[in-house]
Order: sequence, then structure tokens, then C-alpha cells
Amino acid sequence: MTGPLRVLVTGGSGFIGRHVVAALHGAGHDAVVADLDVFADGEVPTIEGDLCDPEVRERAITSDLDAVVHLAAFTSVLRSVQQPADVHATNVEMTAGLLEAARVAGVGTFVFASTNAVIGDVGQDTIVETMPLAPLTPYGGTKAAAEMLLSGYAGSFGMRCPVLRLTNVYGGGMSHKDSFVPRLMRAAAEGGEVQIYGDGEQRRDLVFVGDVARAASLAVADWPSGPVIIGGSRSYTVNAITQAARDATDRPIRTRHVPAKPGEMPAVVVDIARARARGFEPGASLVEGMREAWVEFAPDIPQD
Ligand SMILES: NC(=O)c1ccc[n+]([C@@H]2O[C@H](COP(=O)([O-])OP(=O)(O)OC[C@H]3O[C@@H](n4cnc5c(N)ncnc54)[C@H](O)[C@@H]3O)[C@@H](O)[C@H]2O)c1
Repeated sequence: MTGPLRVLVTGGSGFIGRHVVAALHGAGHDAVVADLDVFADGEVPTIEGDLCDPEVRERAITSDLDAVVHLAAFTSVLRSVQQPADVHATNVEMTAGLLEAARVAGVGTFVFASTNAVIGDVGQDTIVETMPLAPLTPYGGTKAAAEMLLSGYAGSFGMRCPVLRLTNVYGGGMSHKDSFVPRLMRAAAEGGEVQIYGDGEQRRDLVFVGDVARAASLAVADWPSGPVIIGGSRSYTVNAITQAARDATDRPIRTRHVPAKPGEMPAVVVDIARARARGFEPGASLVEGMREAWVEFAPDIPQD
């Protein structure tokens, strides 16, 4: 699609969403947000409310839109194990309702934030898009189910439904999150310790949030339907990520090794060849990206 587009970003007030809105603006598009929380910058219109409610969806999905970037979700993997029905209601039923509203309103493009956790345990193998889906948690299961809903709408109604399978996203604006990088940042700021599951030699791919936002903007413009892995293209051991956080923050970060949690993937090593073929290239280095994440945690760094 060419020309300025009008794009609804569900979950646009969240960590990734705020960067996606900025990337869309940077590419010359208009962004509208639908979220439980109002967007921080009052210039961006927000449809405030729970998208599980059909009335809120109706207000959000209007026929003047060119595309939807669907980020709003129940995002905690660990909580999804305790609340499987809740994660289904938000990640499957709400997504089905949004897709249907987009079809009815004639919105032809629907970009979805998924995860490589849809693939499950592949041992030490490199993850590619063609692997069968075998998620290990309700969170991964609901993301896989939502991907299948998009595939059905692409097949039957000619909608364009690119799926971004994100690895672990990190960067500025994640102080409300409970993933590994913010835990490292909190420990650096407060002098606490971080739990490391197992021996810490499991590999992880981290992708910088600004890179994810650029991928979303590219996907809105012209990526075809189907999954694309969005990662940082290098994987690091959890121990190496911890060391990078020490380097970025210049703080000692204490660690304690504890048994791994159920559903913990032994390795996340991904191949981003498909994303590269569509014009994506990750830019930030791990320490640079960690420095951006550190800004809002650091007690002694002035904030804008
Ligand atoms: N952060 C990661 O590492 C990562 C990795 C893989 C996939 N993802 C996916 O990317 C997307 C964005 O994640 P994030 O890290 O920015 O999370 P986030 O929690 O920071 O943002 C999610 C946003 O969605 C909104 N939201 C949640 N439920 C809603 C509802 N019922 N109605 C309206 N708004 C609702 C929240 O208010 C929040 O602003 C999610 O779909 C997540 O599953 C994230």
C-alpha cells in the first residue's frame, strides 16, 4: 500500500505499541490507538476501553481505517498457566472479534503480534517459520490459535494478515514489564538479585523494540499474510545477557540460580532470513539497547 495510511494500533499505549505508533508516524502514516489506557501523548487519538467488549471494538474498527496492528493481549506467559480461561478470552476471543469487525468494516490489512513460543520445544534447533506449531503454555497456545484465525480470514476474505513472531523484546519504556531485561534493570537500580533459571547457559534471542516497531511498519505497508520471525539475529546465553546488563548499567547485578519453570524453552535461536528478504534488519547492539532500557530505571540518569 502506498501513501499515508490510517492505522489502528490495539495495545498502542503499551511497551511495544508506543514505539509502533512512533514508527508509523515516522513513515508518514496516521495512527489511532485502542487500549485500556489512554496514550501518553494527547496528540494521538485513543479509543479507551476493553476490546473484549464488542461495543468498544465497534468504536475502534471504523471503515476509514486502512490497517490494524493488533498488539493488545494477555502477555504474561507465567500467569497464563494460572489463568488459562482469561488468556483465551483476551488472546483468542478478542482477536476473533477484532478480525470479524475488520472484515465487516472492509479493513483489508491485519498485522498480528505473535511469539516464537508457538513452536514449543525444538531443543537446540534453529527456529524457522515452517516448523509445526506445538506451544507449551496457554499463552503460546492462544497465540497459535489466533494465527490460525488470521490464516482463515486471509484465505476466505482476501485480507492481508502478516504475523510477526517476536522473540524477547527489550528497550525503552518497559518498566511495567516482568520479563528478564526489566528484572535485570530493577536489580541494577535497587541492588537486588535476579533469579536465573537453571545454569543460565540456555540461549535467548533479544530484539530491540525500535527494530520491532520498524518491522510492524514494514508489515503494514506490504508484507504478505503468514508468519515472519522478528528477532535480533544473534542469540546469547542468559549468563551473557546478564553480563551485558552489568556493562550497560555499570552496576554489579547479583544472581541466584533456581530450577527452571514449566514451559521454559531450552533455547530460542531463530533464523530471520524471511524478515530480511522483506527488508527488515535489526540495528541495535545488545549493550546499546540495554542502555536505552536502563534510562527509566536508573536513579541517577536525568529523564526527559
Ligand atoms: N514484549 C515481548 O517480549 C513480546 C514478545 C512476543 C510477543 N509480544 C506480543 O506483543 C504485544 C505487545 O506486548 P507488550 O510487551 O507491548 O505488552 P504491554 O503489556 O506493554 O502492552 C499491551 C497493551 O495492551 C493493552 N490491553 C491488554 N488487554 C486489553 C484489552 N482487553 N483491551 C484493550 N487493551 C488491552 C494494555 O493496556 C497494554 O497497553 C502482545 O500481543 C504480546 O503478546 C510481546
